[in-house]
Amino acid sequence: MKNIDKRSLEKAYRLFETGDIDQIEIGTTKGLLQIHKYLFDSLYDFAGQLRQKNISKGGFRFANSLYLKEILEKIEQMPESTFEDIIAKYVEMNIAHPFLEGNGRSLRIWLDMILKTRLKYVVNWQFVDKIFYLQAMERSPVNDLEIRTLLSANLTSEIDNREVIFKGIEQSYYYEGYDKENQDE
Ligand SMILES: Nc1ncnc2c1ncn2[C@@H]1O[C@H](COP(=O)(O)OP(=O)(O)OP(=O)(O)O)[C@@H](O)[C@H]1O
Ligand SMILES: [Mg+2]
Repeated sequence: MKNIDKRSLEKAYRLFETGDIDQIEIGTTKGLLQIHKYLFDSLYDFAGQLRQKNISKGGFRFANSLYLKEILEKIEQMPESTFEDIIAKYVEMNIAHPFLEGNGRSLRIWLDMILKTRLKYVVNWQFVDKIFYLQAMERSPVNDLEIRTLLSANLTSEIDNREVIFKGIEQSYYYEGYDKENQDE
């Protein structure tokens, strides 16, 4: 695991441990920028800043950087009334992919804060398989059924359970390549 990711993981723990997470705006672009800034401050010079370059992953081209601001303004107005609404909003935010790096990790926290506030549950990420998750996210710009099904099968009402939160963060960092058992890889 890269040192930068290790240090970011520590910041992610701290975000919850200190209660700073409660200062973060729910479901807005500002809130997402705050999370990204918190996780990557002093690690990336673009922490908390929108990208000015176009990027793609697995052949999928994320939102054009020229229109990013307008797109984000639209996304933050999307409803959060139902689980379906919230997943649709998460999927759109992933398509926007506002940052050069660290979108996945920031967005999973952003998603959980919406779910926690609106529906009183969070994703139990420790049980969300990495391969299934990444496949569902790759599919999501075309159809969000897969990601909705996967996450709906892994929700928990234990929103204040430390183990749920911290194991979830570990799993989220593992999606990026971090593996607790192999700390030097
Ligand atoms: N082909 C794809 N199409 C759409 N979304 C994708 C695709 N591949 C990955 N994703 C999403 O983008 C995220 C990766 O984006 P990015 O590398 O900016 O975030 P990260 O936090 O550095 O990495 P990770 O999410 O893997 O921990 C994945 O977690 C997944 O949610
Ligand atoms: Mg990445």
